Amino acid sequence: MKRYISLTLLRLTLLTLGLVLLCGQAQAQATLVAHYPLHEGKGNTITNASGSNFNGTLQGNAGWTQQGRAGKPALNLTGRGHIEIPAPIIDTSKSFTISAWVRLHKLGGYQTFVSIDGDTISGVFFQLRSDTGKFALHIPANSNTGEIATASATVAPAPNVWYHLLGYYDSNKRQIGLYLNGILQQTADHTTPWKATGHTAIGRGKYNGNPVDFVNADIEDVKIYQGVAIDNAELDRIATETKSKESVISLKVANPTRVLSPTLYGLMIEDINHSIDGGLYAELIQNRNLKEPVPQNDPTRIPHWSPTPSNGGTSIALDTNHPVKETALTHSLRVELPGDTSAATPAGVANEGYWGIPVRPNTRYRASLYARAVGYSGPLTLAIQSIDGKTTYAQTRIGGISADWKPFTATLTTGKAPVTADTRFVVLAQGKGTLWLTQVSLFPPTWNNRPNGTRKDLMQILADMKPSFLRLPGGNFLEGDYINERFNWYETVGDISKRPGHRNPWGYPSTDGFGLLEYLEWCEDLKMEPVLGIYAGYSLRGDHVEPGPALQPFVQEALDEIEYIIGATDTKWGAQRAADGHPKPFPLTYVEIGNEDWLDRSGSYERRFAPFFDAIRAKYPKLKLIATMQVKSRVPDMIDDHYYRTANMMAGDAHHYDDYPRNAPKIFVGEWASQDIDTPWVRANEKGPTPTLNSALGDAAWMTGMERNSDVILISAYAPLFVNVNKNARQWAINLIGFDALNSYGSPSYYAQKMFSLYHGDRVCEGELSGLHPLYFVASKSTKTNTLYLKVVNMQPTAQSTKVVLADAKSVGKTGKAIVMKGTELTDTNTLQNPTNIVPVTSNFTPAGTTFDYTFPPYSVTILTFPVR
Ligand code: AHR
Repeated sequence: MKRYISLTLLRLTLLTLGLVLLCGQAQAQATLVAHYPLHEGKGNTITNASGSNFNGTLQGNAGWTQQGRAGKPALNLTGRGHIEIPAPIIDTSKSFTISAWVRLHKLGGYQTFVSIDGDTISGVFFQLRSDTGKFALHIPANSNTGEIATASATVAPAPNVWYHLLGYYDSNKRQIGLYLNGILQQTADHTTPWKATGHTAIGRGKYNGNPVDFVNADIEDVKIYQGVAIDNAELDRIATETKSKESVISLKVANPTRVLSPTLYGLMIEDINHSIDGGLYAELIQNRNLKEPVPQNDPTRIPHWSPTPSNGGTSIALDTNHPVKETALTHSLRVELPGDTSAATPAGVANEGYWGIPVRPNTRYRASLYARAVGYSGPLTLAIQSIDGKTTYAQTRIGGISADWKPFTATLTTGKAPVTADTRFVVLAQGKGTLWLTQVSLFPPTWNNRPNGTRKDLMQILADMKPSFLRLPGGNFLEGDYINERFNWYETVGDISKRPGHRNPWGYPSTDGFGLLEYLEWCEDLKMEPVLGIYAGYSLRGDHVEPGPALQPFVQEALDEIEYIIGATDTKWGAQRAADGHPKPFPLTYVEIGNEDWLDRSGSYERRFAPFFDAIRAKYPKLKLIATMQVKSRVPDMIDDHYYRTANMMAGDAHHYDDYPRNAPKIFVGEWASQDIDTPWVRANEKGPTPTLNSALGDAAWMTGMERNSDVILISAYAPLFVNVNKNARQWAINLIGFDALNSYGSPSYYAQKMFSLYHGDRVCEGELSGLHPLYFVASKSTKTNTLYLKVVNMQPTAQSTKVVLADAKSVGKTGKAIVMKGTELTDTNTLQNPTNIVPVTSNFTPAGTTFDYTFPPYSVTILTFPVR
């Protein structure tokens, strides 16, 4: 009895103080500030049942329906009225919760059920969104320029159905979230909270200083809390009452007809983050041709080079007076050797490599350089050493130095060396004189042993994805900052000594040692088709070439480039390709005209596109031509769409192409990534360098949409592909694959991509998800092997038990597999130190029959694959 009284007293105390909920999720306290049952059924005022003031009045033609939920009256809005409460009921910069029941009369448009006015824009929009057609809690930044947080429902509502909505902001987690019918739909970061100080409204929002988003719906039981009020038992009851709990994926698997593009999953490359120079291109010497600008015009401060020993009287300087004839080697390194240099005390120059020279035991390196000397004719020692020069891991000697420039080659082999990159490469002399060096080069073993080739581990990690194509060579790298800094393909072929290199818009010089032919051979090595980006007369700082005679040389440049790739050896550029060592033409289907030309504020793309399109179409009618934005004067075969967004936005837009007109140009999603960051180029060193599990889940959800629509989206590529994780090497925050001088790793997003690329059929199955569990899915079938591939993404922290119904299947085979990638925190990720923290795991899976239950783990990407008839 005593216990009962004290509990009752406690409850009463709590009620007097306001409703306090201990929330399953946030364990935070919440105060019910306003409760509007909206059952008045008549009159122009509404009462706040929570006891505080905050009463409101009906405006415009707001009225009542007598047929609300459970036969009670409810507020009836018909698009021309709302309820005004002349106060900000809560402080929107602190934790809050809003819930309501709504029944839409009409779908479409923005319809805001509850809002609180800021000066020009609502501080909170609890609404139906026009852009997605879904319910959302949407919180804009006060200024319109910063973050906008949206937590969206995963399914679009139907008209004339009551839905329960609950949205919250949790200031501890800096997170917003939305529940629909008691089931968590989405959470999103909200890092710029602000206080809206105007009126509270039921049935409208505010935008550009004006009332907007008038509602066409019935509303009741609006509750507004200060604090996070998530009553899991109540939400569970609502989920049961609304029959929203059971998740069912129904698939038609017997005769799927929608073609799944066999080339959907490919790669995009550009030299950003030292992806090529200092990355895939296996060259180990940084600034080998001395073209990198010297700081403050000081010729003795040559980036990545230093005299050795540092205090031995050796000096170095950049020299532009002794070019190597008939090459593009205009710059060299002049080394003044002091008198006391000898075999016992050699002196010379050291290169730091790309953040170290990778040393492994029993490994052969190919070195080459151009050298000349005055007053010195002795041998040169080439060596890989520890940074302090005390340990030599491999060395060799070359002789025959004279006053004339000569090329030299040599090999160096390590023995029982450790695995280390705390190293440098040195060129040492043993006597007095002056030495000049240029194009100093060092290669480790390369993929397929190609000279001037690619780094083996990076090739392997790509090969494991089985990509079908490579979009090359960019991206912004194609365009350059200025027209003369574009990827001028003519200057990237032939002997590397003839390639001048050029300034890369990503802030470091490109050697172009990895040029057009090397990109194509890379494609050949991994059985990918090139998707060729051609320069179309626009560069990043706004320069463009006026269509007309000025543009003609660039059109010719593109035609020549295509001829270099696919021309027979009796054509001018086909013959050049053969002379460069590759007589066989490469395959080519797609040519992309430009890159992101919507950035060209002059609006010249429409006029630039046409001459490129016409010239290429006339000479190569079979090639498919891609435009980088909508054009009117010609009909491109394909449009290249780019998406860099948060994981939640990517997932929320997974149905983007569901209604894309099937007779319109096909789609290339040429760059996309879940980023969780707004300006990845500004915050390159702050975030990343590779994505978290959260991004991988957003990516996977997005990929379900691309795969479902791959009759339209024929090719797609994540970007950027690579990042050299050293801080000074990065320009972009979130990248698929990370590496340093020695090692590499795939991010969770890499593994998501690999899963999607490796497991799919040739036809997409029709499917439907019922229930409100926010799962993303796509199913496909191999019509050759009668194998089904069901991909399901669960972005939620809770497991989702789901019934899978293969409606028209006769039988299923037992020899199935489940491939599951999952984690425990959204921030889980992979790093160089822990490269396989988040990876897919494969196990046997036998479906119970043509209908079976499966529980998709929290934060997971799952592929179920099994035979089906
Ligand atoms: O992928 C990084 C950059 O993003 C690409 O160079 C450019 O096309 C896009 O803006």
